[in-house]
Amino acid sequence: MEEAVIQIKNITKEFKVLNHREGVKGGLMDLFSRDYRIVRAVDDISMNVEQGEIVGYLGPNGAGKSTTIKMMAGVLEPTSGEILVNGVIPYKNRAGNSQHIGVVFGQRSQLWWALPLIESFKLLRDIYQIPKAEYEEMLSFYASIADMENLLHKPVRQMSLGQRTLSDILAAFLHNPKIVFLDEPTIGLDVSMKAKIRELILSLNEKKHTTVILTTHDMGDVDALCRRIVIIDHGKMLYDNDMDHLKGFFGSYRTLKIRVSGDVNGHLAEIQRQFPDMRTETEEGWITILVDEEKTGVMKVLNTIQESVKVRDVQIEEISTEDVIRKIYEGDMG
Ligand SMILES: Nc1ncnc2c1ncn2[C@@H]1O[C@H](COP(=O)(O)OP(=O)(O)O)[C@@H](O)[C@H]1O
Ligand SMILES: [Mg+2]
Repeated sequence: MEEAVIQIKNITKEFKVLNHREGVKGGLMDLFSRDYRIVRAVDDISMNVEQGEIVGYLGPNGAGKSTTIKMMAGVLEPTSGEILVNGVIPYKNRAGNSQHIGVVFGQRSQLWWALPLIESFKLLRDIYQIPKAEYEEMLSFYASIADMENLLHKPVRQMSLGQRTLSDILAAFLHNPKIVFLDEPTIGLDVSMKAKIRELILSLNEKKHTTVILTTHDMGDVDALCRRIVIIDHGKMLYDNDMDHLKGFFGSYRTLKIRVSGDVNGHLAEIQRQFPDMRTETEEGWITILVDEEKTGVMKVLNTIQESVKVRDVQIEEISTEDVIRKIYEGDMG
């Protein structure tokens, strides 16, 4: 069997951070005797990733996602543990590693601000010594999947956030790296731009069999792109498996959506009183209730609600990715 393109074994990353003391006196004290504490941002994480996979690397803010990515990219050295990316230790071989990886950190462009995109591409071509034929092929592939006419001759600083993100992603894939790290690439984008970005990532992954490690808070990204997800919290791994497996685990859950008229919040309060253990939500006249069929049947819930609330429309769906992830954070995987 081929070696996994990313191999991580028990990596930990600790940061030493200064405890600032307050006020002028505190500032002076900081100068003379420093009071540090240790933050363990990544705590004993292990995983292997195969060539061509798209892995969703998920977790709440501060979970340690970006720190892990920086270690894979060779920007940070692990405090302990082993990490091999494409067979090399990233932080010991940054130049060698960068040939095989691409990175996009959402909202922080890697491109030359004042230059039209095409000039950035040419610089990247020279830096990575991309052979002419491959470069040309990549540009024509790009033209087939994105609206390059509107991008290529525009200076990056004149681009919208969406155009810039798109450009950043194209730039990250340009030298045909084996692995691309996308850290919150869709943050701040509108719905249609998000859809475009997802299509782009999928096309690039399919065409070049590129491994993609993606962090995101948008479950739409996960649904569209990731067959496997890894979830971390407080630096520790909570879960690593296929999306299908995960949805199967919560297979007895249904999302019951009902449309009501009148006082939606009043109806919601009534439903919450009737079913205090079920998670509820409202949006634009719809009330959503997460029902575990092993405990209470959906029809029973619906009938009970209808005794006090006039229901105008009903939808029953499987559990959403968002609810699945939320349940993992809540420790419901046992
Ligand atoms: N350079 C740093 N110095 C000190 N603490 C850091 C540094 N980078 C990250 N941290 C801390 O490590 C933890 C994980 O951060 P990060 O990896 O950025 O999380 P995420 O990307 O999941 O939001 C946080 O508590 C953060 O404050
Ligand atoms: Mg982050």
